[in-house]
Amino acid sequence: MMLHEKIIKYFKENIKLFNNSFERRDLDILIRYVFDNRTYSEIENIYKDIYFINVLKFAIRRRLSQEPISQIISSRRFWHSKFYVDKNVLDPRPETELLVKKVLELPSSNLSLIDLGTGSGCIAISIAKEKPNFEVFASDISDGALKVAKRNSELYQTSITFIKSDWFSKIDRKFDVIVANPPYISETEYNDLPLCIRRFEPKIALIAGSNGLDCFKKIIKQFNKYLKPKGMLFLEIGSTQKQNIKKLFHYNGYKKIEFLNDLSGKYRVVCVKKDA
Ligand SMILES: C[S@@+](CC[C@H](N)C(=O)[O-])C[C@H]1O[C@@H](n2cnc3c(N)ncnc32)[C@H](O)[C@@H]1O
Repeated sequence: MMLHEKIIKYFKENIKLFNNSFERRDLDILIRYVFDNRTYSEIENIYKDIYFINVLKFAIRRRLSQEPISQIISSRRFWHSKFYVDKNVLDPRPETELLVKKVLELPSSNLSLIDLGTGSGCIAISIAKEKPNFEVFASDISDGALKVAKRNSELYQTSITFIKSDWFSKIDRKFDVIVANPPYISETEYNDLPLCIRRFEPKIALIAGSNGLDCFKKIIKQFNKYLKPKGMLFLEIGSTQKQNIKKLFHYNGYKKIEFLNDLSGKYRVVCVKKDA
C-alpha cells in the first residue's frame, strides 16, 4: 500500500469526524497540505503524531462547516500559478482564465494595463509574469483585497503599482488596456448561491445591485477617457449577461462590441476598443 493510502486508511479509522458527505478529493488535498514539504521517510515516521492528527482534525472540521478548501489551505491555483487567498478575496475562478488568455494574445509586448477590482491579484499578476515589459497597475476598493494582492505580487516578484480606488475615482492616467472581472451577481442570485460561497467569500466581490449590472454601468460609463488611442477594454461577464451588456454599451454610444466565448461556447468576455 502506498504511504498516502496508508495515511488515509489510518485517519479514516482513527478520526471520528468523517461522514459519507466528506469527499475523498478534499481529504487528499488536506492530507497533502498537512504533510506539506515532508519527505516520504519523514511522513512514515510522523503521521500518527498527535500534532498532525490535530491539525488534520481542525482542517476537516473547517471543511465540514462548508469553508472552501482554498481558504483552509490558503491557496488556489489560477492560470500557471498558485495564489494566496483568504476571506478578503474572491477565489480565483477557472472561467477568468479566458480573460487572461485574451490579453496575453495581444501582439504588443510593452503595453500599460490596469486590472480594476484586482482581488487576489490573480489577473494582474498572471499577466505581469508572462509580459515582463508591461507596465501593470491594479486597483480595488477593499483594503483587505489589496493586502492579499500585494502579498501575491511579492511572492512572484512582479512589479505592479497598487491603487485603492472606487473603480476610476483615484485613477489619474490613461492605459493601453483596461481589464476587470467586476461583481456581476444580482441580489436574488446571491441568495441562491451555495453556503460555502455566501458564508466565506466577500459579498462586495460578488453582488452588483438588484440586477447584477451596477458595476458594469459604472465602468462602461467611464472607461473611454482612461484609454490611450487604440486602447482596449476587456471585461468578464456572467454567462447569461451578453444581451444586457450589449444594451449597456449601445446605451453609452458604443457600436462595435466583441463577445468572446469559452470552450463550452459561453460568452464570458466582452472586448471594446476606444471610441468604438
Ligand atoms: C469578482 S471579484 C474579482 C477579483 C479578481 N479580479 C478575480 O478575478 O478573481 C470583484 C472585485 O472587485 C472589487 N470591487 C467591488 N466593488 C468595487 C469598487 N467599487 N471599486 C473597485 N473595486 C471593487 C472587489 O473587492 C473584488 O475584489
